[in-house]
Amino acid sequence: MDVGKEKTDDPKTPEDICRYLIERVSAMESQNQDYKEQIRQLEADKRYTETQKLRYEREVRKLKGEVENLKTPPLIIGTITDVIDEKRVVVRSSAGPRFLVRVSQSVNPEDIQSGSRCTLNQQSLAIVEVLPGTYDTQVYGMEVVESPGETYADIGGLEPQIIEIREAVELPMTKPDIFSRIGIVPPNGVLLHGPPGTGKTLLAKAVAHETNACFLHVVASELVQKYIGEGARLVRELFDLARDKAPSIVFIDEIDAVGASRTDTMTSGDREVQRTLMQLLAALDGFEKRGDVKIIGATNRIDILDIALLRPGRFDRIIEIPLPDTDGRHAILEVHTKGMKIGDDVDLHELARLTDGKNGSDMRAICTEAGMFAIRQDHDAVTQEDFLQALEKIVCDFGRHDRRIYSSAGEMFA
Ligand SMILES: Nc1ncnc2c1ncn2[C@@H]1O[C@H](COP(=O)(O)OP(=O)(O)O)[C@@H](O)[C@H]1O
Ligand SMILES: [Mg+2]
Repeated sequence: MDVGKEKTDDPKTPEDICRYLIERVSAMESQNQDYKEQIRQLEADKRYTETQKLRYEREVRKLKGEVENLKTPPLIIGTITDVIDEKRVVVRSSAGPRFLVRVSQSVNPEDIQSGSRCTLNQQSLAIVEVLPGTYDTQVYGMEVVESPGETYADIGGLEPQIIEIREAVELPMTKPDIFSRIGIVPPNGVLLHGPPGTGKTLLAKAVAHETNACFLHVVASELVQKYIGEGARLVRELFDLARDKAPSIVFIDEIDAVGASRTDTMTSGDREVQRTLMQLLAALDGFEKRGDVKIIGATNRIDILDIALLRPGRFDRIIEIPLPDTDGRHAILEVHTKGMKIGDDVDLHELARLTDGKNGSDMRAICTEAGMFAIRQDHDAVTQEDFLQALEKIVCDFGRHDRRIYSSAGEMFA
């Protein structure tokens, strides 16, 4: 518009036209420059948006995968019981029934072995995957101590009991030929019973140490499970593991949790405990007699145990661990004061006389308390006075052996 207007207004000299054109060109060049700048900007924007798009696409893919994961039905856990051929396998699902199923191509045929755990598709029950490890994690969770630190020297008194348990557990493991020479079958297992805190657990650990056996420590209440058959399976797997780790000692503490005598009036929960007990009895029976797996049971309540557990052939030796007498308490005091700094005036015989009715763990508590009194009074060594104070404190704190309050439930859970 400008150009036309200027043209019509007045005629231009060639210089004017020339100047005008130069101005126009430079204006257009600068505009061109602006456009170029804009293009660069837009291109940068475009690149940014494109990377943004890629990022969102990746996120969408991830979320879709996640949704897929959430939507996929769970796989059933089963156990392979029989392999018929490469493609057909018999499995037992965790719910109980057995099925003939196919195997997914992704599974390595070598992994298909009877006894392995596997996952099954919900609809076709085809084997999707073979899981590592034959044993339940719960069995592995049971304390597998290669060899505990306690020795016979850590036990005060109990000499006759130590001899009995050594004959029953240690000898068949270390010298099996003696038994075959004489022609008898060594005891299968031993049952330790007696009041709480008298050293039953301690004794079992010492035996395991002395035989260098693997020590499987299970508290019987762990074997009681929620679902039918699970407890029995745990028992079976526990003993399988013990056989794998042989020579080994299976120590079942507080065995009254599954071994209480069977009665007629039962809830379904009781019946599950029964099944667990029956599996346990079968495991006790099923051992190769001179085998390297020994069973030690411990209980505070032998009076409520099922007679089936007590019959010879299961726990052949029943060893009573009584409350320590004066000499026993003296021996226990000696064990626990071994590492302590003791003054010259301390008379352990006198202390043993004063602690009538106390058990091993009380004696240990007295030693610890005496040490605490010595620390509080800044003594260099523990004096008789410290021990007497500790004794008084323990008696006041618990007083349980005098009052006999542990006669029923307390004793069971000690
Ligand atoms: N005869 C004993 N000699 C030495 N310490 C003992 C003795 N009896 C019990 N104790 C002490 O008491 C603690 C508890 O004993 P424990 O064996 O667990 O008792 P329980 O018979 O209830 O299984 C042990 O760790 C140990 O320190
Ligand atoms: Mg115990």
